[in-house]
Amino acid sequence: MLAMLALIYWQTVVYATQQTDETIDAEITGLAEQYRQRGLAGLVAVINERSKPERGSSMLYLLTDQRQNPLAGNLSRWPDLEVQADGWMRFQLSDDGRRKGGPHIAQATSFVLAGGVQLLVGRDLSEVTAFRNRIVAALASSGALMLVLGLIGGIVLSRRALARIETINRTSDRIMAGEFGRRIPLKGSGDEFDRLAQNLNAMLDQIERLMAGMRQVTDNIAHDLRSPLGRLRSRIEVALIEPPSTERYREVLQQTIGEADHLLATFTALLDIAEAEAGSPRGQMVPLDLASFARDLADLYEPVAEEKGLRLTIETGPGPIEIRGDRHMLSRAIANLVENAVKYTPAGGTIAVKVAGDGGMARLTVADDGPGIPAEERERVFDRFYRLEASRTTEGNGLGLSLARAVVRLHGGTITLEDNGPGLVAVVSLPLAPEAG
Ligand SMILES: Nc1ncnc2c1ncn2[C@@H]1O[C@H](COP(=O)(O)OP(=O)(O)OP(=O)(O)O)[C@@H](O)[C@H]1O
Ligand SMILES: [Mg+2]
Repeated sequence: MLAMLALIYWQTVVYATQQTDETIDAEITGLAEQYRQRGLAGLVAVINERSKPERGSSMLYLLTDQRQNPLAGNLSRWPDLEVQADGWMRFQLSDDGRRKGGPHIAQATSFVLAGGVQLLVGRDLSEVTAFRNRIVAALASSGALMLVLGLIGGIVLSRRALARIETINRTSDRIMAGEFGRRIPLKGSGDEFDRLAQNLNAMLDQIERLMAGMRQVTDNIAHDLRSPLGRLRSRIEVALIEPPSTERYREVLQQTIGEADHLLATFTALLDIAEAEAGSPRGQMVPLDLASFARDLADLYEPVAEEKGLRLTIETGPGPIEIRGDRHMLSRAIANLVENAVKYTPAGGTIAVKVAGDGGMARLTVADDGPGIPAEERERVFDRFYRLEASRTTEGNGLGLSLARAVVRLHGGTITLEDNGPGLVAVVSLPLAPEAG
């Protein structure tokens, strides 16, 4: 703002002052020309003509002889001249009745012409001064106005910004105080504050969803552990009511150990899932060949499948399929897929395990021709403790697929269930190990 005002001042006042200098210079050149052509008499005539008051000119002239007696001009006497640093002379012009407004400053320059005649040419600066004063006054008042408006604008704008931040603060205070459902109100203008509020709201929604998920899991755990514990307790109670018999006690204790083992296995599985989901493998990630890994696993389950009247085939291609992984965790995850296929496929069925590598990913599939899983349930079976209605009679906790997914994700891979028409195919994709060397 200051720079702009300075520029305006420069463009007007300084320009006007320069104009004065130039006018006087031009006048001198003109008069010198007259003197050369028409002599002293001609010069006197021209000056008298130009000094006539009715011309209303602000130019000042004075022509005197050697003794400073006026010959022509509109100044009555030779002023007390004082040469300034810029080469111009300035003097007070007293009010001679012809000019109004009291004494004012004039600017002039003087010469001695041939023959001792002295010439003074100047200009009354009252107009220039008045002009400058008006400009300075106008600049000062507009500067003051801009300052006031700028201040008001600044205050209003910052107030508005602070008010929005205050709203966010108030809302977060209430959320911290326990109103978890509360959200930051939006203005709908789509500005930065709205976007900030939107992001914070989305974050709160996400946290709420995660918390609901956690609550669901803990509820499920509590519910699913209650029934085996209840069974365990009533079995012991019944044994105590019955007439004492070492034989019977032994039998009940053995059953109790079985139940306790089952509970322990459930807890172990839950802890394993939690650990895998936390993203920290207990063992080391080592290079391993998924093809031979799957062949070993198939060898292990071959007798179990055969016993149930199932055929288990394995197809891996000739070469090794190198990945990096935690051997123990991966074998638990993949074993569960084979186990599920064996468990849920009725006698006479076929289970096919295949391993292939393509496009930077290793692909392991376990396909069966059993009852399969309806499309709308294929995601839910990955939830902890979730089992299909039809499987209630078979052994199991509903934790196997949760563990498999957590482990595969820990290895940077994905696991999905697809239709095998009929049956189910579990597809595991794991990143191939980067080529060594
Ligand atoms: N190959 C399959 N064919 C049909 N249904 C399956 C198959 N695999 C899984 N399911 C269904 O998905 C549910 C969840 O499987 P998951 O492996 O998580 O638990 P589970 O086998 O019941 O118990 P766990 O593996 O903990 O012993 C199973 O209860 C079953 O209903
Ligand atoms: Mg299972």
